[in-house]
Amino acid sequence: MGQSLGAGIGFFPRPDHADVVFRRRRRSSRHAHHRPNLPAPLGGSVAQLAASWRGAWPSESPARPGGDGAWKPRRPLDGHPDRSARPRGPVGRRLAPVGPFVGDRGPRVVACAGSRPGGGGGGDAAGTTPDQPRLGLPTLCAGVCPMMRFMAKVAIQRLIGAIPGGPALYERARRRRIFDDIDSEVAVKRAVAERYASVLRTVGGVEVGALSNHLEMGSGWLPVLPLTFRRYGVTRQVLTDVAPLMRGEDAVAVAAALDRAAPVGAQPLAPPPGEAADRWLERLGIRYHAPQPLPMPFPDASFDLVTITQVLQYPAPDVIRAIHQEAARLLRPGGWYILSVELADLYHHFDPALPRFNFLRYSEATWRRWFNNPYTPLNRLRTTQHRELLAAAPFDILLWETAGGGPDDIAELRRAPPHAAFFHIPEAELARTNLIVLARRR
Ligand SMILES: C[S@@+](CC[C@H](N)C(=O)[O-])C[C@H]1O[C@@H](n2cnc3c(N)ncnc32)[C@H](O)[C@@H]1O
Repeated sequence: MGQSLGAGIGFFPRPDHADVVFRRRRRSSRHAHHRPNLPAPLGGSVAQLAASWRGAWPSESPARPGGDGAWKPRRPLDGHPDRSARPRGPVGRRLAPVGPFVGDRGPRVVACAGSRPGGGGGGDAAGTTPDQPRLGLPTLCAGVCPMMRFMAKVAIQRLIGAIPGGPALYERARRRRIFDDIDSEVAVKRAVAERYASVLRTVGGVEVGALSNHLEMGSGWLPVLPLTFRRYGVTRQVLTDVAPLMRGEDAVAVAAALDRAAPVGAQPLAPPPGEAADRWLERLGIRYHAPQPLPMPFPDASFDLVTITQVLQYPAPDVIRAIHQEAARLLRPGGWYILSVELADLYHHFDPALPRFNFLRYSEATWRRWFNNPYTPLNRLRTTQHRELLAAAPFDILLWETAGGGPDDIAELRRAPPHAAFFHIPEAELARTNLIVLARRR
């Protein structure tokens, strides 16, 4: 079961469809001397690459797993380990595919074992490497290029976030990408809707069409889930988001795509020519509220079903806690809560040559300071942390299904050995790729 999710439905869309949270990071005067804000990664990336070629910075060893395969710290870690506590190995003496490693002075591109695309890796469990990459142009390119592209994307995102009109520009480019191939986009998201309906039927024993009030949190650009649920008979649906991403014409385009894919003779969803999108959505019982902060302006226990899809990989834990509490408030007792989360590094979708768990190689401070940005603000939480957050809300968990964590995923994880802050989490947990949960309001 654990493997079925991601593979079964090709679950999760590309990162480019993710996470526009127009939040600006506040720049504290304490950090002003670091030039930490938006343009820094661009300059930083170029400088660090240049420095790496000069061998200016030392490198560090990959993580060191224990005999049982779990990553073992040399001493207990509190999540902010002392750098000196990290195991050191011989990596600095070889020049392997490149990955940034960050210390007090900012990111560095250093020799880092095991970041060759295509697997194979350089580092082994003990930090000694039988498979030592040799310095050659193909080897260097294979490792450097994905990291350079990753850094370039991060730099561009952060730069765009800083310039006037940048967010609008970014948004336009993103929309163009989505609508270039709307049928594929809709097919992926329709599979998610069908999966939810199946989970409700098989695990919850209820047909989605019997649930008349549905709230979709973080609904995004394309209302595929609500329009598909409408086909199943859900009569009142509220869509909310922190950013007003969806437009009326988007909804019409989605309905047209769903109609194209529907069996012959199915009732069309799309509006007749001339009907305004707002009126049409109203007629279908669909209302859109964005930007909609928490708490939401809806009465307690006013929904039968709350869904949140591909959202919880972005917010900070406190926000996730608040989202779960709000879902619990809005659901009637016995109401259903479905969430799904992508747990891999979304930048891997942008560049498949980048290790799928690349983002775990950084400390929290480094990730926040150099890589995280308003367009892809990944929280990097693993399933155990998601479970703790959900356990704090009044839900019974009926289905907790994960994908990933198998030998291939662990091999992929080892291509970009995780930072010491993750050593206390077993490798199989770190290498999970997706999570889907069905919970019931107590
Ligand atoms: C990858 S999109 C997913 C959209 C849609 N749920 C889907 O599956 O197609 C992520 C969405 O999460 C929203 N989001 C990000 N942080 C959020 C938060 N704290 N609360 C609610 N939505 C949030 C974004 O605005 C965006 O619409």
